[in-house]
Amino acid sequence: NRNDTTARIAHVFRGTFVHSTSRAAVEMLQDCVLGVDDQGKIAFVEKDQDVDNLSKLWGFETSDIKQLGQYEFLMPGMVDTHIHASQYSYTGTALDLPLLEWLKTYTFPVEAKYNDLEFANNVYTKVVRRTLKNGTTTACYFATIHTDASLLLGELADKFGQRALVGKVCMDCNSGVPQYKESSSECKEETDRFIKELLKKEYPKVKPVVTPRFAPSCSSSLLSELGEIANSNKLRIQSHISENKGEVELVRTLFPDCKSYTDVYLKHKLLTDRTVMAHGCHLTDEELEIFHETGSAISHCPNSNISICSGMLNVRNVLNHKVKLGLGTDVAGGYSPSMLDAMRRTLDTSKALTIQDPQLKTLSFEEVFRLATLGGSEALSLDDQIGNFVVGKDFDALRVNVCVPDGPIDLFPGEGPKVILEKFLNLGDDRNITEVYVAGRRVVPFTDA
Ligand code: GUN
Ligand code: FE
Repeated sequence: NRNDTTARIAHVFRGTFVHSTSRAAVEMLQDCVLGVDDQGKIAFVEKDQDVDNLSKLWGFETSDIKQLGQYEFLMPGMVDTHIHASQYSYTGTALDLPLLEWLKTYTFPVEAKYNDLEFANNVYTKVVRRTLKNGTTTACYFATIHTDASLLLGELADKFGQRALVGKVCMDCNSGVPQYKESSSECKEETDRFIKELLKKEYPKVKPVVTPRFAPSCSSSLLSELGEIANSNKLRIQSHISENKGEVELVRTLFPDCKSYTDVYLKHKLLTDRTVMAHGCHLTDEELEIFHETGSAISHCPNSNISICSGMLNVRNVLNHKVKLGLGTDVAGGYSPSMLDAMRRTLDTSKALTIQDPQLKTLSFEEVFRLATLGGSEALSLDDQIGNFVVGKDFDALRVNVCVPDGPIDLFPGEGPKVILEKFLNLGDDRNITEVYVAGRRVVPFTDA
């Protein structure tokens, strides 16, 4: 079953591989070998008793195999479907106001500083490195309104080897802060320039995403223009929806001709099968049906939803509506840049909802693992390229060791791979993520470290 005779094998791993499929939230591949070709793609995943045949067929030396230890496994890289790179500087602070006041008081004044490329370079370097080190192999970023700083974020993701979707933020009204908004024509022209210049760089793993901040920040004509730009160039779209009740109410008054918040985006052609909308805590079932019909995805950001008291998304209900769903950190509304935290907060929120309604089936850690990996790839329309260990997909992966010296996890006799995975998801941190690969390239540990 080897069809490309020119591909050469760059890495072979042997041991336990954990991933999700459409059938199984967690599939444990034990005593297996996984080969990565020199294009960064997964060439084979087989039982290791066939290793001698594989080495002849693919022309690799068995002495080059990377053998995983008893307490190690590979898992797919995690996909952060919603993170504001520009808000990283104040992560862990400023969590005492609800959304609309939070934006005006903390967020817009900080984002205004990204006309300074030195400031941007400092924060963007740190957020790319921090998230990579924590196992985020793909990030869907909001930058700011500034085109040049947004291009710099793309350059840094490329430099450090992170797969990224990068959005230059568009907002032409209601910022409430004079130094942080654009005219409608600037939004459109600068979005065009951002897309053109980012695509011209031909970064293999960094792509632009059309980014209206959210309905209250955008005029109807701007929303239409951004829908047009995205649809004529087949680009992805990201924004926010129904995060907090005050915001939903504001949208009702700003767009009185629209039936719902979802209807605002629908009418402006922003709901596509390349769209991801953050939060969605207060969407109705009727709105979720529109998400399903249009193929639009939701990014669930539980840390943020609790931290700035926005609401609790009923993920089970979203999944029952067959809406694509991934997890997001939503730095800095969410105070943690780690996707492990996003998984834990997803479980917390699910359990809180079960406390309120015992009929509601709580999410399992296996389901949450899928949302952080395969689910995220689906939400970003990247599931043809990444999300699990399927032959032909890019090798975006974490090497996890639950038994690092002075690490956060203690193991006890008789604990098998499932318990080891569960302990890593609940107790692990970046110390346990010993290597990170994106498209076959090892990006962590950093080579300059
Ligand atoms: N809605 C509009 N802008 C933002 C933002 O920056 N963060 C969050 N959490 N919600 C938003
Ligand atoms: Fe956000």
